[in-house]
Amino acid sequence: MVGQIPQRFIDDLLSRVDVVDVVGERVQLKKAGRNHAGLCPFHQEKSPSFTVSQDKQFYHCFGCGAHGNALRFLMEYDNLRFPEAVEQLASRLGMEVPREGADDPQAQARERKRREADNLLELSTRFFRERLSMGEGRAGREYLERRGLSPEVIRDFAIGYAPDAWEALKRHLNEQGVSDAVQVEYGLLVSREDSGRVYDRFRDRVMFPIRDWKGRTLGFGGRVLGDAKPKYLNSPETPVFHKGRELYGLHEARQADRRLERLVVVEGYMDVVALAQFGIRNAVATLGTSVTEEHVNRLFRLVGEVVFCFDGDNAGRQAARRALEAVLPQMIDGRQVRFLFLPEGEDPDSLVRREGTEAFRDRVTCASPLSEFLFEQAAEGRDLRRVEDRERFASSVLQALKRLPEGVLKSLLLGELATRTGIDQGRFAALLDDGSRDEPVAPAGDEMPPVDAGGAPGEAAPRRSRGALSLMARALQLLVHEPGLAERLPEDFDWCADSEDGDAGLCRDVVRLLRAGRYRSPQVLLAHFHGTPEGQRLEALARRELLIPRSARAAELDGLIEHFRRQRQSPQEEIDALLARQASGERLSQEERQRLTALFLADKR
Ligand code: UTP
Ligand code: MN
Repeated sequence: MVGQIPQRFIDDLLSRVDVVDVVGERVQLKKAGRNHAGLCPFHQEKSPSFTVSQDKQFYHCFGCGAHGNALRFLMEYDNLRFPEAVEQLASRLGMEVPREGADDPQAQARERKRREADNLLELSTRFFRERLSMGEGRAGREYLERRGLSPEVIRDFAIGYAPDAWEALKRHLNEQGVSDAVQVEYGLLVSREDSGRVYDRFRDRVMFPIRDWKGRTLGFGGRVLGDAKPKYLNSPETPVFHKGRELYGLHEARQADRRLERLVVVEGYMDVVALAQFGIRNAVATLGTSVTEEHVNRLFRLVGEVVFCFDGDNAGRQAARRALEAVLPQMIDGRQVRFLFLPEGEDPDSLVRREGTEAFRDRVTCASPLSEFLFEQAAEGRDLRRVEDRERFASSVLQALKRLPEGVLKSLLLGELATRTGIDQGRFAALLDDGSRDEPVAPAGDEMPPVDAGGAPGEAAPRRSRGALSLMARALQLLVHEPGLAERLPEDFDWCADSEDGDAGLCRDVVRLLRAGRYRSPQVLLAHFHGTPEGQRLEALARRELLIPRSARAAELDGLIEHFRRQRQSPQEEIDALLARQASGERLSQEERQRLTALFLADKR
């Protein structure tokens, strides 16, 4: 790990930049009285409610509440992590970011390596691009033209050509002072085991640089011009390139639209560039691997909606099932996933050429929501008029639901499952909570004798996922990241009172402090506990990325509190509480109304 950035450096940095400059480079600002104003880049608006104060050195949006200093702005706008934002600001001022413990030779070596890689891969990208435009790139140019790509798209994706020679890139890089060893390490040269001879990995291929979302080249994909095998040759795993993590086209999609809201995930390089050619500039591709959780994570850091595109054949459905598995644990509220199946024998490249932009857009718009695909999947090969099949259907859906985080989607799916099977929702909910049963669920009614719902006593519930947080810890994490949320906490209900959760005590302390009106920023809150075990715990939670979009955090906290309230109450108390709220004229949410119905039904039984 690279060392921490010292606080005094951050203070110094902030005192030297002007937030008006930083914001002004990205948002058109007008001087308005003492402040500057413009259209908020963090939500859609027609009249400006976004202000930047030079005196106070912060920005604030009266529309969506976004606010912070220059660093915060870079983090939000460019989607940077804190150290990356610091790096970026520092580099504007020509300052070097010091690291505590930076004299650690290992950390230095790693840093040097990263720079070396950046340099080497940029040089290679430039080399391939130049070759494409030169005499020897003619075959490549003709190929790209045959595939219908315009010079603009070729430029935007920095597509190039690797010459038909054994040592073209090698020589070029040697001249720039890059050793063979480094070129081998980053996958540009291949080293023959027997003779130790090294030569260019990519020869006579059209080259697609694979870049991270910031535009730094990580590796390459190269396509043969003819029918030789392999059709695509990719960079091997290197210190910076990991196939199962990267997506082709992220940078280009972000370049095309800074306020990207949806990404379409396709299979191939050519699909991405062909869609771009047709004006659909928000497609990205996995690199010949199936969709992983890491992919999904990355996608949702940039957008709220992801549409996965698959071939209509069996392999495509299999890939879709795997994608579903990767997606489920990540489906917190505010995220949307849909599945698009293409007609057999087509890929997005061929389809968009045949049907045109609008028709392809329509397909994307009409793609199945996750819920639909999930139910369809569970129903496949089953006759839902038969009790046994319905049971299997229900347990298959429940299996999936167990992997979903708590939230609106989960309750909606539970409700839907109840409707589709005619089984009372309360019973599913109980099974899900208990979390330890995989056997089929017995439908209610007289068709079958009810199965003992107890499950094996003493059997430990499987952990939801690696290092999953308890619900109490999730509430605490929300508060640490956004102390302002404390305002929403109920006064009349001590939700961290008698829980057995290890975080309950700390949670109560934090709530008390926040309620007392102290500590509105995470840093100050952390400072309060600094140097204690509690402080360590809070710091761990603060470091842990909060996957919930800002707009959904309040609802998430409300949901958690609601859950604790329920846990604490007997069913009768819960019914009474809901009825009392209804009687006082409050409108219950759909979720609450369903809950009430379920409670009544359970009560009767
Ligand atoms: P496809 O074979 O579907 O290629 O592979 P494609 O995108 O339709 O390519 P064109 O249209 O024939 O040019 C899809 C993806 O699988 C990976 C690549 O990432 C490719 O984009 N792949 C495929 C490889 O890595 N190696 C191969 O030999 C073939
Ligand atoms: Mn194709």
